[in-house]
Amino acid sequence: MASQLHHNPYPMPLDFDVLVVGSGVAGLSLALKAAAAGRRTAILTKKTRAESNTNYAQGGIACVTSSADDFESHVRDTLVAGDGLCREDVVRSIVRDAPVRIDELIELGLRFSRDADGRYALGREGGHSERRILHVKDMTGKAIEDALLHAVAENPRIELMEHLFAIDLITSGKFALDGGPNRVVGLYALDVISRRVETFRAPAVVLSTGGAGQVYLYTTNPDIATGDGIAMAYRVGVEVENMEFVQFHPTTLYSTRHDRFLISEAVRGEGAVLRNLKGEAFMPRYHPDADLAPRDVVARAIDSEMKMTGAPHMWLDITGRSESMLRDRFPLIFEHCLSLGLNLSTDQIPVVPAAHYTCGGVVTNLRAETSLPGLFACGEVASTGLHGANRLASNSLLEAVVMAEQGARAIENYLTGADGARLDLPEWISGNVDDSDEQVVIAHNWDELRRTMWDYVGIVRTTKRLERAQTRIGNLNREIHDYYWNFRIEPRLLELRNLIQIADLIVQCALARKESRGLHYTLDFPGNQGVPEDSRITLEPVPGKGFGGL
Ligand code: FAD
Ligand code: SIN
Repeated sequence: MASQLHHNPYPMPLDFDVLVVGSGVAGLSLALKAAAAGRRTAILTKKTRAESNTNYAQGGIACVTSSADDFESHVRDTLVAGDGLCREDVVRSIVRDAPVRIDELIELGLRFSRDADGRYALGREGGHSERRILHVKDMTGKAIEDALLHAVAENPRIELMEHLFAIDLITSGKFALDGGPNRVVGLYALDVISRRVETFRAPAVVLSTGGAGQVYLYTTNPDIATGDGIAMAYRVGVEVENMEFVQFHPTTLYSTRHDRFLISEAVRGEGAVLRNLKGEAFMPRYHPDADLAPRDVVARAIDSEMKMTGAPHMWLDITGRSESMLRDRFPLIFEHCLSLGLNLSTDQIPVVPAAHYTCGGVVTNLRAETSLPGLFACGEVASTGLHGANRLASNSLLEAVVMAEQGARAIENYLTGADGARLDLPEWISGNVDDSDEQVVIAHNWDELRRTMWDYVGIVRTTKRLERAQTRIGNLNREIHDYYWNFRIEPRLLELRNLIQIADLIVQCALARKESRGLHYTLDFPGNQGVPEDSRITLEPVPGKGFGGL
């Protein structure tokens, strides 16, 4: 029997009240809250439990805590960064709820860094008019992830299942399971170890699958960030928006390899200056806030300096600060650079921008509800309206913890009113498929897609380049479509299928936006071109007929 041989026997049947996909800050926080309300909750995660963007977050979590700061100022900074596309009620609500959610993290054991007087040592990042970033040195994400995982492990109502890759959502409408309104009723997930596809049933499903940085050749994101949740939602007809707004982080360590180690914006918050290869501190030429201008401005300035001079990178200079201060404040970054022969206190650091954050995603309201009943989205996968056209630094960990509370409440409400009847869900049909004997096709197409996005859909765009990208994405889609139906599925193929979908959504939105705003900058439509603020580009696919019918 498959279950006896199983590496990690599941509770059978795979029936839960709440099914959470993803074990980053959003999924773990929401699962804890659903379990606290008495709900039987499962967390599925496609790799090991800590592997997530959350685990690599450096700068910290934005929250008004100091008497020099106030909510209005945090709201204003968020709206200015978002360049007319934030939903102001959402911004106000998330900023206001921040302190109580931060207290909950502290109750779970999180210890934010403090200064010599015992007060929070608040960091500063681009676009923030005040010091307001709570942090645990430069390893805030890992500290949050550890605290949440510890709490989840102690909670008997939560099953956390690793190496389970969510493939597709199951909706009542698609399989005509009953006469009621279309809603989500479960999902199919590939057990990566046994290679079986399991059917999970739950009246409430939460997508907390994070962003899609891997769609670009150079990214700060770990391998898991392949946009799976956004693609899954889109395939069943759920609204997705603002996908053109991909945030590029200005300062990642330059290397000749593809991986990009982040050099936190907090380093500029402590006085680091960007210089071009002539040694000029160029940021004052681009923005009055110089090195602490919003991220889109800094990334574009670096891109422009690199293009003007043909330089492969810029320099980040914090040599004015002492080694002891830098080692204490940025231990991770200091050690990483030192392992490559760069001492932050004496050497300038070569930096380049890289894809970092997916501002758009699955549309939700302030209750984390999507356009499909029973389906909720929380964290980077979602587009709540907080970030608009450009996310303010350190607002995403905050959004995840606040929206986890809102989502858990909405789920409770939904489950209280839900019809408890168990539906018989159809099992996954694998058909007569073989193992692929040409893994090279998947590897090659991953590379081609990511290069195409980097070269044609990057920091500065043109309509011609976007159209070129669209043609190539279409070709890749056709090839992978055949592959998907003819060979046994495996994670790299599923991720590629999702990434192709994400790339198409980004290009569709970018082509539809006939202006430059926030992170979307096109030479063909400089400035706002009279396009009204609040002009979101929403994609509403026909259920079952998502892009390419994949
Ligand atoms: P993630 O933390 O990415 O978690 C997603 C989870 O979903 C993972 O467990 C993944 O394995 C799982 N998953 C994905 N697809 C599937 C699938 N198909 N099936 C099953 N499981 C799946 N933000 C800040 O606010 N402050 C910072 O200082 C900061 N620094 C950052 C530094 C780096 C290097 C990076 C990459 C990001 C940073 N961010 C920061 C952004 C922030 O970390 C993320 O936006 C946030 O952690 C996202 O949390 P999440 O729970 O939504 O997703
Ligand atoms: C950083 O530390 O620079 C990243 C912060 C963020 O992405 O919010």
